[in-house]
Amino acid sequence: MNVAGKPTRTIWPAADGASVEIIDQTRLPHRYEIATLRTLDDAAHAISAMLVRGAPLIGATAAYGMWLALRADPSDAALTHAYDTLYATRPTAVNLRWALDRVRTAVSPLTPADRAAATRDLAAALCDEDVAINHAIGQAGLALIRDLAATKPAGQPVNILTHCNAGWLATVDWGTATSPIYQAHDAGIPVHVWVDETRPRNQGFHLTAWELLNHGVPHTCIVDNAGGHLMQHGQVDLVIVGTDRTTATGDVCNKIGTYLKALAAHDNGVPFYVALPSPTIDWTVRDGVREIPIEERGAHEVTHVSGLTTDGEVASLQIPPTGSPAANPAFDVTPARLVTGLLTERGLCPATHAGLAQLFPDHAQI
Ligand code: MRU
Repeated sequence: MNVAGKPTRTIWPAADGASVEIIDQTRLPHRYEIATLRTLDDAAHAISAMLVRGAPLIGATAAYGMWLALRADPSDAALTHAYDTLYATRPTAVNLRWALDRVRTAVSPLTPADRAAATRDLAAALCDEDVAINHAIGQAGLALIRDLAATKPAGQPVNILTHCNAGWLATVDWGTATSPIYQAHDAGIPVHVWVDETRPRNQGFHLTAWELLNHGVPHTCIVDNAGGHLMQHGQVDLVIVGTDRTTATGDVCNKIGTYLKALAAHDNGVPFYVALPSPTIDWTVRDGVREIPIEERGAHEVTHVSGLTTDGEVASLQIPPTGSPAANPAFDVTPARLVTGLLTERGLCPATHAGLAQLFPDHAQI
């Protein structure tokens, strides 16, 4: 995508050949800053403190983190330490384990002297793979949006609700849930996006709204509680969300609040699609509600909100009274029965094991 007219990705090797650069997403939307990762600990911190976030980008950063670790020490012990350190950063998005396993499997058999360069090349290849996957997801979703547009009076937009940020910031480029939206918009199909996830982290406003504004896609910011009301009044044609881990049976784990959107969509007959890159499928898990580890983040994200003051300064404000405890589950699971379909890089399928197995027969054992 473009920032200030320049094409950019969310992560790239720096010109010094020894470090990696990222967009520091904790500073958006009010500041656009690049951060440099020089060490394993920098990469681990970037993931756990959410300078980078979103399942595919977490995986890409972990792969580059392995490179930074192996540049410093390519021994077997260092490889294991890097894997364990990065694996411990965040528990829910399965792309983290997927990327770490890809790296470990590829470089373990190599002599230590060859490991760093091989890891750097593999990290770059995983990034390119992510971009291609997300573009293909966009093609599958574009067909859905085109069909809906054909049912609308001329000039009326297709109204799409998306929750949280499954945009290009959450991936290397394109996004997953936003890829069909960008491709429809670029093809001249009128679209309008309802943007939410206002709590706990405001990622709809901080990240998705920033993306859409930069790309010129018509959108409206809404609070999390507004989605059901809009659906009841025919103002949502389609929901598309991302996912951090989808089970082999089609249960979808995504940012907290996704489940409530799915319930409201189901009650109102609004199609609810999930954009699913194949590295986000956990073929080892059948029951999402019971088996997927849900990250519990700090209470501060619930008790405080950050934003721009009228003086143009970024400030953090406390909302509840001092002393009230807060809980902060970061993700929830939407059961497969509430999901209309899964948009993958190999096309659309039902949210069932049979549907996934038909598209990905090479992985389908459970
Ligand atoms: O906590 P985050 O920001 O890493 O969570 C992001 C999401 O839940 C996204 O919807 C998901 O990772 C899909 S990203 C293409």
